[in-house]
Amino acid sequence: MDVLRTGCSMLGCLEPEAPPPGFADQSDAADRLVAALPGILLYWHRFHRDGTRIDPCTQDDSIAGQFLRLLHDGEPDPAHRHGLDVSLTLYAEHEFNASTFTARICASTLSDLHSAVTGAIGTLRGPLHGGANEAAMALIERFDAPGAAEEGLMGMLDRKELIMGFGHRVYKDSDPRSDVIKKWAQRLGEQAGDLRLYEVSERIEQVMRREKKLFPNLDFYSASAYHMMGIPTPLFTPIFVLSRVTGWTAHVIEQRADNRLIRPGSEYIGPEPRPFVAIEDR
Ligand code: COA
Repeated sequence: MDVLRTGCSMLGCLEPEAPPPGFADQSDAADRLVAALPGILLYWHRFHRDGTRIDPCTQDDSIAGQFLRLLHDGEPDPAHRHGLDVSLTLYAEHEFNASTFTARICASTLSDLHSAVTGAIGTLRGPLHGGANEAAMALIERFDAPGAAEEGLMGMLDRKELIMGFGHRVYKDSDPRSDVIKKWAQRLGEQAGDLRLYEVSERIEQVMRREKKLFPNLDFYSASAYHMMGIPTPLFTPIFVLSRVTGWTAHVIEQRADNRLIRPGSEYIGPEPRPFVAIEDR
């Protein structure tokens, strides 16, 4: 996330957007971000992991295919490519979530697109927002069988711990995106002949429904689906960025089309005004 946040900001330095009021090349700047962010991320990842300097130029006609190609250095498995493509679609846009709101506030000051997206990336990384998919993976990986998962989860609930990948501020009964990615998590597990993570995830889901009446959000089954694609956990939240950048930039363009400064008020609940006492009178 540091790499993407800084890469986005640096792109704003190297290729600044045309200024307001016209923002004449905003669509091109948005397309460029969608195209460049996977290369920025994977150039860093591959160099950091094995010292390889990859060629991040486009070699595939989909973001999912390009990502897997650069990550694994070869032709992607068709099911992995399709599953990641579906996941990117599910993550692309979700109304006024926290990171999108950040982007719109920034855009409402007539700031540049790169600043809006840089702020959005910083907001997305938190574990209550996009960071939940990595935290969900850390949870699922701890258990080697459904029985152990149930026991471990009951302990966590007794200790009133937050279970990452469950609940949603807007959805109250279910997250419709979760059903889609859950099928992919199962399909990819079956293809690999390894359903351990899927079965552990399903048991966690059952316990959460039974004990807390909470349902998995998109992040929960994304974790095991990504794992089956051979994607390292620290790339899960960055993948969310590679998709959501489409939503953020669309919101920035929409905000600019009929702009008004977003400036919330706050209700003061502190002490009442107190008499002023000059220091020499104390
Ligand atoms: N694990 C355990 N308890 C949870 C929970 C979770 N994932 N999500 C909500 N709860 C509990 C809350 O602690 C609260 O309990 P309380 O009334 O005893 O204090 C109750 O359920 C109601 O919470 P709610 O008002 O629905 O949550 P919210 O709107 O404040 O928060 C989230 C929504 C997403 C921030 C919250 O569900 C959460 O932190 N989930 C985990 C992080 C996550 O997956 N984020 C990705 C979202 S797409």
